[in-house]
Amino acid sequence: NGTPGSGQIFELPKNVFAEKVVEVQHYTDRLFRFRITRPASFRFRSGEFVMIGLPNSDKPVFRAYSIASPSWDEELEFFSIKVPDGPLTEHLQKIQPGDTVLMRKKPTGTLVLDALLPGKRLFLLSTGTGIAPFASVVRDPETYEKFEKVILTHTCRQIAELKYGYDLTDIAKNDPLVGEEASEKLVHFPTTTQEESPVMGRITTLIETGAMAAKLGMEQLDPETDRVMLCGSMAMIQDLKTMLDARGFDEGSNNRPSSYVVERAFVD
Ligand code: A2P
Repeated sequence: NGTPGSGQIFELPKNVFAEKVVEVQHYTDRLFRFRITRPASFRFRSGEFVMIGLPNSDKPVFRAYSIASPSWDEELEFFSIKVPDGPLTEHLQKIQPGDTVLMRKKPTGTLVLDALLPGKRLFLLSTGTGIAPFASVVRDPETYEKFEKVILTHTCRQIAELKYGYDLTDIAKNDPLVGEEASEKLVHFPTTTQEESPVMGRITTLIETGAMAAKLGMEQLDPETDRVMLCGSMAMIQDLKTMLDARGFDEGSNNRPSSYVVERAFVD
């Protein structure tokens, strides 16, 4: 049972789905998103990731990709970087509608609402493609049942890299299912670090200096009332963890919900 239409002979293991690419959109020479068909039996929780690969060798390279579409969507969406010599993205960035993408069957991850204790505000802090899991979380009705405010921050080097987050916020606010609540509760906070834009600076600095709270007209982060999900580079996560720990936040997991959760964004 190879992957029909892929032009490759590849024995499909039992734990892998072979799905078709439905849509591809390139944002910059570093970022693109793609959508694939969704297997009827596939279930996941908003914020989880799956392993994605291509049927281009006997031993396909798989990498973790956060699912960027809501759990009720008929297709699955992913947001990816392009790495010139990246073992997977070098090839993945060339996919076209109709091509085959492999996906391991079991989703997993810690950026899920179940891993957080109840709270008032939910901060979703992302850099680059780290926004992907939050694209699912901000379209989940449960997010708005559990929180009074949802603050989605997205920091990138350039303005063009912020487009995914702008589009996402627009889609969430006009969504038939969550649009009304998202319009009231969802706050988008885009920032850049290497190109002039209305808000500049790393999210770490913007939190530390109180600039984010001031610009949003909100209280500073408080472990009593706030819950945080982090997704970005290793360095970003490390710095934010240190900052949150110093402020009395505590890292949670599926087995032990607490005040913040962390996942590293896809790297190569
Ligand atoms: P900077 O331009 O100052 O490095 P990348 O494209 O390299 O993944 O980075 C995405 C964004 O994350 C960039 O705006 C970058 O800012 C920012 N960033 C990098 N390292 C950190 C960090 N340790 N803490 C917070 N933000 C970071």
